[in-house]
Amino acid sequence: MGIVIRDKVFTIHTKNSTYQLKVDDKGVLLHTYYGARTDETDYSYRIMPADVGFSGNIAVTDDRTYSMDYFPQEYPVLGSGDYRVNCLEMDLGHGVKDCMLFYDSYRTYSGKYSLSGLPALFAGENDNVETLEIVMKEDKEEIYVHLLYGVFFETDIITRAAFIENKSGKEVRLSRVMSLCLDFARGDYDMIHFHGRHANERNMERVPLFHGIFEQRSTRGTSSHQHNPFVILADKNTNEEMGECYGAALLYSGGFHIQTEVDQLEHARLVIGIDDSELDWRLADGDIFTAPEVMLGYSKNGFGSLSHKYHNTVFRHLIRSAWKDRQRPVLVNNWEATYFNFNGEKLLEIAKQGAELGLDMLVLDDGWFGKRDDDYSGLGDWNVNEEKLGCSLKELVDNVNNMGLSFGIWVEPEMISEDSDLYRAHPDWALAVPGREPVRGRSQLVLDMTRDDVISYIEGRLFALLDSANIQYIKWDMNRSLAAAYSAGLERERQGEVRHRFVLGLYRVLEDLHTRYPDLLIEGCSGGGGRFDMGMLYYTPQIWCSDNTDAIERLRIQYGTSFAYPMSSVSAHVSVCPNHQNGRTTPFKTRGICAMQGTFGFELDLSRMSDEDKMLAREQVKTFKKHYRLFQFGDYYRITSPFDNPDFTAWEYADKNGREAYLAVVFTDVHGNPLPKLVRFQGLIPEAVYKIVQDGNAVEPRTGAALMNGGLLLPIPEKNYDSTAFYISVEE
Ligand code: DGJ
Repeated sequence: MGIVIRDKVFTIHTKNSTYQLKVDDKGVLLHTYYGARTDETDYSYRIMPADVGFSGNIAVTDDRTYSMDYFPQEYPVLGSGDYRVNCLEMDLGHGVKDCMLFYDSYRTYSGKYSLSGLPALFAGENDNVETLEIVMKEDKEEIYVHLLYGVFFETDIITRAAFIENKSGKEVRLSRVMSLCLDFARGDYDMIHFHGRHANERNMERVPLFHGIFEQRSTRGTSSHQHNPFVILADKNTNEEMGECYGAALLYSGGFHIQTEVDQLEHARLVIGIDDSELDWRLADGDIFTAPEVMLGYSKNGFGSLSHKYHNTVFRHLIRSAWKDRQRPVLVNNWEATYFNFNGEKLLEIAKQGAELGLDMLVLDDGWFGKRDDDYSGLGDWNVNEEKLGCSLKELVDNVNNMGLSFGIWVEPEMISEDSDLYRAHPDWALAVPGREPVRGRSQLVLDMTRDDVISYIEGRLFALLDSANIQYIKWDMNRSLAAAYSAGLERERQGEVRHRFVLGLYRVLEDLHTRYPDLLIEGCSGGGGRFDMGMLYYTPQIWCSDNTDAIERLRIQYGTSFAYPMSSVSAHVSVCPNHQNGRTTPFKTRGICAMQGTFGFELDLSRMSDEDKMLAREQVKTFKKHYRLFQFGDYYRITSPFDNPDFTAWEYADKNGREAYLAVVFTDVHGNPLPKLVRFQGLIPEAVYKIVQDGNAVEPRTGAALMNGGLLLPIPEKNYDSTAFYISVEE
């Protein structure tokens, strides 16, 4: 069993980790252990009581050695005398934020809790998953804080979420409700986080923690390109293959706040939750506020093993789409091929060529609706521009289907252009402060997803679109950050609720789409990877990883993304050279190898490719389809880091029983008089002998032991950005 409870000590085991909390004799909920799998010892013996000056003592005791300020807490609150970053800030009506929680009760059950209106991991019927719910009560008021723990025994993940239940008979105000606090007995960790900007997402950065607060945050209303809601705390010596590390990923697609504080006693505290910069939530008597879920993972075997825990859990317990186990379509998207400049004929030309290359789908990107020949107008008017297409959407789709391709289409439902019929009819549907100039982003405004009438409109238009033709896929885009987000549908006092309600509105539409069109493949997108988070993966099993399609820059972006997110969720395409984002020219072969790191596709005018590129493209499609199961279901290994190794980047997929693997290498800085380089495989069977095919040619077989320990010599690249790929399989 995963959850063991003795004398108010709650020990949670997964296969390889243990997490413990304890209700002490004052009724305070302490966090006593998280780390490698251990026994049910009461680990509170590790907490040394001490009289630490200026650390207040709680009212229920005169004991000066008992302070919330240095005891490890499970859900710290502002006003309790704990001066570190906290989880809950609540005004009970006194005008100050004071609150004190004591243990009330608990329950456990098999299976996984769910969260109304929010994404959450789920359990299948036969999965070894349990839930622990601990209820804390405010000292003087009938306000309850429910702490939820989901225990995914097999995949080594523990989830945490919380909800506040107000039964006090009055309204209270919440200005901060975080999902997780994790207190550590030490502070000398490294923090690994993933920062970036548009077209340059999820750069991995590793920095030592310091005294003070280090934070990753998005105040943008989306999880953003700038920071990702996933972090790792690791020992100094942890690397891909060894060492202790802790991961935390928030299942939320709006603004978020991650803080790591090293306090005056050299302890680290990690707190994660929704962005509290503008939060002011009025919780009426009888109401509930839910803080989204966090996935916690621990590994003592390095980042590679931590990533596998996340990948396996996302795959088995987060992605619900019918497409999770299906072979995703290899598609061609017309965005970089034509931008807004297309008509039906051009699209059919691309589709025809796509069919000849063995592709599965044509995706029609931005520009097919309303008045939309550039990005200044039309958003919100989701009616087909038949004049531009030269036919109805159904006729276009039927023609594409007749060529043997399925059809997908781009939408950006959360947005509105001021130059649109929708805005002219409903200016108050845009989030903007009345009487003030709105902040524009890409010359567009954001629709007020907190309103029922807006949601009905969006759903009506989307359903009509999807019912009008044989559409198998949508790309759901979102191309700006929120700013001065005022809702005309909410009274003045509730404006501090808009950002969270916006995300709840988004999730509502996505949930309704999922229910009504269970077979629809939805690809998430926000100017590339501006909303690449666990929350979106609950609704969209793949996400366009970046608007940067340069193969070499993608190495870094996809590397950073892979720490938390499975590569089958990473949408990646071969595009034209010189690349549209940075002007770089790379070999077609390398572009294919990099795009095959994720869900594979093309984003260029196929009808204008050279014969040689067409031949390579055909081969790439065949290779991807041949190894599709390995790419989608295998274990992914980061063999080298593009941040640490300037010469080449290598990655590998190995199937879970180690019988076959695919290892790709891209040379990123070729030197004169080049030196030989070796690359080592992971995840193989040491005693098995593997057939090796390099770039289609058989080379000498080697044992798994040799491939994992001795490695393979890489060919000397002829020029910069050359690449090579090895497919190995156990000799029968
Ligand atoms: C941003 C996306 O990331 C691009 O792929 C493309 O769909 C454009 N939007 C269209 O406006």
